[in-house]
Amino acid sequence: MSFFITFEGADGCGKTTQLNMVADFLNSINVKNIKTREPGETPLGAKLREILLHYDGPVADECEAFLYLADRAQHVETFIKPELEKGNVVLCDRYVDSNIAYQGYGRGISIDDLKYLNNIATNSFKPDLTIVFDVDSNVAQERVGANKDRLEQEGLEFHKKIRNGYLEMAKAEPERIKVVDANGSIEEVFEQTKKIILELLNK
Ligand code: TYD
Repeated sequence: MSFFITFEGADGCGKTTQLNMVADFLNSINVKNIKTREPGETPLGAKLREILLHYDGPVADECEAFLYLADRAQHVETFIKPELEKGNVVLCDRYVDSNIAYQGYGRGISIDDLKYLNNIATNSFKPDLTIVFDVDSNVAQERVGANKDRLEQEGLEFHKKIRNGYLEMAKAEPERIKVVDANGSIEEVFEQTKKIILELLNK
């Protein structure tokens, strides 16, 4: 059984906590799995991550988009596909939808162009399931706290655009993208997450 599952949402939505809980749950039922993330899982990607999150000079929007795309191209070819071939469920913290949400809805780059570029970067490789953790933007900003990276510093309006972007994407692709209400407690959110994961495993 090998599925490619991506975890998405605005900064502070709690997806990484949920991803870790899903991994523990899969381990408890003996489903082989591996955790990964974008940007920065591969050795090359780690160098790009450093630039993407901490470079302190001006970064052109298109440059930012291409750096994420470069990270993703390397990640799909050298990590995600080989892990799936080994029979692992791959749990990935962010993927193409982050690019559409942040660089598209957030920065204003053409969404059609981004889709085209992501198809090149990934050879059109799509997740079997994507879970979007949807949380009120004010709550999300509070969760992020004071120690913010380059994108987290963008503020409330930017993050509202991202949230809205994810919801639009989910409407357009309801088969692949499931939305979880992530305003509640960690346990409440996990109940919804687990249900979605079990539906996929039982297919
Ligand atoms: P990270 O510290 O991994 O945060 P998170 O836990 O929220 O995933 O930082 C990743 C940041 O990069 C996050 O702010 C979203 C952003 N991002 C994009 O803007 N475009 C992309 O294609 C990806 C993968 C991430």
